[in-house]
Amino acid sequence: MRLMQHKREAFWFYRYLSNFYDKLVNPLFWTARMRDKSLDIADWANGDQLRVVDVGSGTGFTTQGIVKRVPAKNIICLDQSPQQMERAMVKPDLEDCRFRLGDAENLPFADDTFDRYVSAGSIEYWPNPQRGIDEAYRVIKEGGQALMIGPIEPANPVSKFIANLWMLFPPENDYHLYFQTAGFTDVNWTYIRPHWQENERYGIAIVGTKPAPGKPTGYGERKAAAAAVVEADPKGGWLGRNLLLTSRVLVGSTAGFLFIPMALLAHVTAPIRGVEGEVEPLNREQKAVLIGIGAIATYFLVRAILRKR
Ligand SMILES: C[S@@+](CC[C@H](N)C(=O)[O-])C[C@H]1O[C@@H](n2cnc3c(N)ncnc32)[C@H](O)[C@@H]1O
Repeated sequence: MRLMQHKREAFWFYRYLSNFYDKLVNPLFWTARMRDKSLDIADWANGDQLRVVDVGSGTGFTTQGIVKRVPAKNIICLDQSPQQMERAMVKPDLEDCRFRLGDAENLPFADDTFDRYVSAGSIEYWPNPQRGIDEAYRVIKEGGQALMIGPIEPANPVSKFIANLWMLFPPENDYHLYFQTAGFTDVNWTYIRPHWQENERYGIAIVGTKPAPGKPTGYGERKAAAAAVVEADPKGGWLGRNLLLTSRVLVGSTAGFLFIPMALLAHVTAPIRGVEGEVEPLNREQKAVLIGIGAIATYFLVRAILRKR
């Protein structure tokens, strides 16, 4: 499993990332345009009658797209991070949503509860993605839809290495397999990317319909197998476990943070590289980081030139 593909590690990662998540992360990697294109593949007709659960709802960015289609009072946001959730709860357009702390792999809801299940950018942290998608199936009603949005393993070897060190970037086929295994029908999908990214298959939004009420076929067996893996996990001593947690969070976060300057550079060089797509302007915080990178690069360049003399 990847460094951040653990529940406790993801919890600590977001404990701090939530401070600048809305300013630096989403505007680069998960933009409003990508969100709307993804949501559009699900059926939102008669939105005022739909009950929706947004799993791994974080600071509520995807929920802000859902409330344009479904009244906020019909939506439950679930996340394991109280820090992320606190930021969603103060957003005026999400005031009427309900919020619940919980685990995507063990949803605290009865079978056949919701009309729509949405999860965006959260699967990367789930130790057992199939279990999360089985849960998606279980909690929606017959005829309901589950929409999963996530990254696809990058093609570029350097990005692939950093991504795989950091968290789960499933190969595209895995998304199809998860949906097939859970038993979804009428599966449809689209690809998403920010404008600066030349890779058309940067991320995927995949939607499926639940054909019959109840749990997915094989649910109990897969749940027991997942529990056995957790049981078999070496417990170790307190110190060992916490050293492992700390080192995973530090190395994983560094790999994750490297993506921010890489993406900012890709953003500004997109026109030179001939990447097509309507430009999404940088915000104040992104510009400040870019200026910082520029200043550091200039410092090292000038130092190298002066040393050569
Ligand atoms: C990249 S953020 C995405 C947030 C939001 N969906 C959005 O569109 O901005 C991922 C979120 O998944 C949550 N998360 C990770 N693992 C989880 C789990 N096992 N159960 C519930 N939430 C989880 C994190 O706390 C974080 O808020």
